[in-house]
Amino acid sequence: MPLPHGANRLLCWLALFAHLTAANHGRTASEPKKTACVVRGASADCSHMNLNVIPQDLPQDITRLDVSHNRLTGLPGANLSRYAGLLDLDVTFNSLTKLDPSLCQTLSRLRTLNLERNEVHVLRDQDLSGCVQLTVLNMASNRLAFKAKWPDPFAALENLTTLDVSNNMLLTAKLGSKPQLPRLVALTLSHNAISTLKKEDFYFLSRSPSLFVLNLSYLPLKKFEDGCFQQIANISFLKMDGCNLASQITKLCTELSDTAIHTLSLQDATLLKLTNITFKGLHKTNLTILDLSSNKMSAIEKGAFQWLPTLKTLHLERNNFKHLTKDTFVGLENLKELNLRQALVKSQTSSTSIIDDYTFSPLVALETLILEHTAIRSITENTFTGLTSLQYFYIGWSSCTSLKSLTEKTFVSLAASPLRLVNLTATAITSIGNGSFSAFPNLTTLLLDFNFISQTLQGAEFEGLGQLEQLFFSNNRQKVELRSLSFVQLPKLSLLTLGRTLTGSLDLVPSPFAPLKNLKVLDLSNNNIANINARMLEGLENLMVLKMQHNNLARVWKSANVGGPVLFLKDLGNLTVLNMEYNGLDEIPTDALTGLKKLKEMRFTGNLLNNLKDSVFEDLLSLQTLSIQKNLITSVRPQVFKPAMENLTLLDMGRNPFDCTCESILWFVTWLNTTKASLTGGKDQFTCNTPLAYFNRSVMDFDLLSCKDSTPFQALYILSSTIVIALMLGALLVRFQGWRIQFYWNVLINRTLGFSDAKVEEGREFEFDAYVIHADEDQKWVERSLLPLETDRYVFCMEGRDFLPGTSRIEAIVDNMRRSRKYLFVVTESLLNDHWCRGFKAHHALHRVMEERRDAVILVFLQDINDYRLSRSLFLRRGMLQLRCLLNWPVHKERIPAFHEKLHIALGTTNTPKP
Ligand SMILES: *[C@@H]1O[C@H](CO)[C@@H](O)[C@H](O)[C@H]1NC(C)=O
Ligand SMILES: *[C@@H]1O[C@H](CO)[C@@H](O)[C@H](O)[C@H]1NC(C)=O
Ligand SMILES: *[C@@H]1O[C@H](CO)[C@@H](O)[C@H](O)[C@H]1NC(C)=O
Ligand SMILES: *[C@@H]1O[C@H](CO)[C@@H](O)[C@H](O)[C@H]1NC(C)=O
Ligand SMILES: *[C@@H]1O[C@H](CO)[C@@H](O)[C@H](O)[C@H]1NC(C)=O
Ligand SMILES: *[C@@H]1O[C@H](CO)[C@@H](O)[C@H](O)[C@H]1NC(C)=O
Ligand SMILES: *[C@@H]1O[C@H](CO)[C@@H](O)[C@H](O)[C@H]1NC(C)=O
Repeated sequence: MPLPHGANRLLCWLALFAHLTAANHGRTASEPKKTACVVRGASADCSHMNLNVIPQDLPQDITRLDVSHNRLTGLPGANLSRYAGLLDLDVTFNSLTKLDPSLCQTLSRLRTLNLERNEVHVLRDQDLSGCVQLTVLNMASNRLAFKAKWPDPFAALENLTTLDVSNNMLLTAKLGSKPQLPRLVALTLSHNAISTLKKEDFYFLSRSPSLFVLNLSYLPLKKFEDGCFQQIANISFLKMDGCNLASQITKLCTELSDTAIHTLSLQDATLLKLTNITFKGLHKTNLTILDLSSNKMSAIEKGAFQWLPTLKTLHLERNNFKHLTKDTFVGLENLKELNLRQALVKSQTSSTSIIDDYTFSPLVALETLILEHTAIRSITENTFTGLTSLQYFYIGWSSCTSLKSLTEKTFVSLAASPLRLVNLTATAITSIGNGSFSAFPNLTTLLLDFNFISQTLQGAEFEGLGQLEQLFFSNNRQKVELRSLSFVQLPKLSLLTLGRTLTGSLDLVPSPFAPLKNLKVLDLSNNNIANINARMLEGLENLMVLKMQHNNLARVWKSANVGGPVLFLKDLGNLTVLNMEYNGLDEIPTDALTGLKKLKEMRFTGNLLNNLKDSVFEDLLSLQTLSIQKNLITSVRPQVFKPAMENLTLLDMGRNPFDCTCESILWFVTWLNTTKASLTGGKDQFTCNTPLAYFNRSVMDFDLLSCKDSTPFQALYILSSTIVIALMLGALLVRFQGWRIQFYWNVLINRTLGFSDAKVEEGREFEFDAYVIHADEDQKWVERSLLPLETDRYVFCMEGRDFLPGTSRIEAIVDNMRRSRKYLFVVTESLLNDHWCRGFKAHHALHRVMEERRDAVILVFLQDINDYRLSRSLFLRRGMLQLRCLLNWPVHKERIPAFHEKLHIALGTTNTPKP
């Protein structure tokens, strides 16, 4: 839209205005007091320092000085002579009562002077006369009154463009006796005590041809004298918000008839009614923007707007209209934007406002119609007829019975409008009939958020929306079901939000998203989705943002999932944002994130992740943001995290139970010490959970030297990488015959090297090889599967069998545990639910282990137990134990010998922690 003459400049000034105001009000009084000025380049910030005088120790060549929020009572030039080069001086929020003429004499180069919020009550002719270069002067919120005679304090300010004297005690707008301020552009006089605008008041501005902006808001104006704006006919932006104009609006418009008025703001001006002559005076002007918001207006007389043919924007927000008719908007044939937000209220006779048929038909040029927060009785087939230019239609948060069930008739009155955006947010829609939107062939954006839509989308609902690019469909009631063809009518869709909208299953083939080849953003969050298949996102090679937080996808990524983990992220080579927060995930399959080479932001906060598999983040070389807070991560090993952390700029990883041992944390602490990435919550938020010596301390306290001293590091690294390569070669074999190979391997090792790496003496101190802790329900398993091993080589301590009669149970346990070399937990749900076990036995054992013998614990899992349960009940995490002390009872019978072999190894491991 080409801006009318002068409007460009006008906008600049408005922007400057806003900037100045924001700069002053942006500061908060609660900012802590500083003890020294902050000097940056040529600026010195001495605000908030309780200063009584200007500091004399700043660099002499500063050009900006901020001494706001201090206790200055005077500003004699002598105090500033050191800084004669100052261009900008900010003295807001001090206690000046007057200005010393020597100030401007000394600072003759000053361009901006901000004296807002002081107590200046008198301005004499000479006070500012030295500041000849001043362009911006702000004296808002002082106590200026000008009672006795008209002084000319601003007469010397030839270059002044902006003058703000709002919120003083001025009784008149007359700020000078003779013409002055030749370059003034904006004058703010709001919040003073001016009650009359006299003909000669603006005589002092009669030679100020660039005065465009005049703010007269919140003045107790009672009278406009004839010709009061005559001297300043170039004003194009006039703001008179908060003035009582009820009886004077017609007169005001008459006075403005010969001005260049472009924008007129009359918010909150107690207007109750617009008659057919209210705006008569404006008919010769080029008024373009009129703001009549917040006026409690209830009626617009026929023909009220006939005088404003040049109007482009009309704001009528927050009024009390009850009835709009086809005469209301007559004359506004050039109007482009009409804002009726909260403008219509219920009428007495009806619970809704009434918009007659053809009400909008005069508005042939209207492009934007805002009808938000409105109660409308109904939408008929002619309600919006005639809006032949309408492109943007907002009706969010409005109620209207016609919107409850959408049909192909609902929007038929908009069929001739070239609509591009329709916003139906929160309009209580419950169903969408076939072809409901067929009147919008050119629509690119449709918003249906926060409705009550509950239905199965078959596809025909979106008929005719062939150009649609964005569909917002979030926050419906999780009662929308998808089918394979749901979105088949929307081939151009690039954004689809379905957060908190769907029922839980998306396991469809073909996928409903398959037709959306252009999809870039997909939001499926907050749906409790539990079932998806690997082809859900197949072919969406343009997808960049995928939000799946707050679903229930843990099972889908479990290795134990029937048919294997569901790798639904494959082929998404352009994905840059992935959100999987709060999904109960305790595993990420090895290949789940393979190929996501462009991923920049990844979020896994609020899951149960613990032991991440090596190389699961291998392809994430572009990652910049990683959020993995509130999980159960104990170790941050380079094998897992290095690729993902290489280019990181933001890491959010707090609230994980870090294990502060060389193996688990050494690399992470080293990384933290050198990284440039920002850390949400800072470095000290990462706290150790184990071992006891570091409990609750920051990982930054971890002693790195303790690792270097005892390990020949490099050699170990080379050795381990060799092993890794060997393992990779073996992986293929292992995949098919893994357990068998492992079995023979174990046997081989045991036979050749002896099964134990523990020294023989280590065993001699103990009477039992292991103290077995199990639930009563698992007694049978223990008898059948564990006891037979005893005859071989081991002696187990079993409660009930090995307890001496007569001793108390607790004593017996403590005593027996002390006499056992290992503690073997038979982990099942029953054990975790067995309060006796959890309460005393486990606690006791663990207590000892934590302090001295962590490596004595062996966990035998008879069931799949997630780590979260484990840590809640037994205060143990898999990540805290050596891998060979974690055993799973095999499902297949033929694997039992292998299990026994593993158990031998576990029982044989030394209790002395390795360096
Ligand atoms: C006003 O500004 C112009 C250029 O910016 C300068 O030439 C002129 O001297 C200034 N006027 C005064 C009185 O300083
Ligand atoms: C204003 O309305 C009155 C009647 O309501 C009518 O007599 C008069 O001609 C109208 N004036 C204009 C300028 O439309
Ligand atoms: C209104 O605009 C027209 C065309 O831009 C111009 O010729 C005319 O002088 C303007 N009138 C006023 C009062 O500014
Ligand atoms: C749609 O309307 C709602 C409610 O009025 C509003 O919050 C939202 O910002 C609008 N969105 C767009 C893109 O217009
Ligand atoms: C849709 O757009 C095309 C080209 O942009 C235009 O020719 C057509 O009239 C428009 N349809 C409607 C209903 O506005
Ligand atoms: C990324 O998107 C472009 C088109 O925008 C496509 O040509 C390319 O194949 C996509 N890349 C991958 C890896 O899918
Ligand atoms: C990430 O880091 C690697 C190695 O430092 C570098 O080769 C690559 O270009 C970086 N990628 C991005 C996207 O910065």
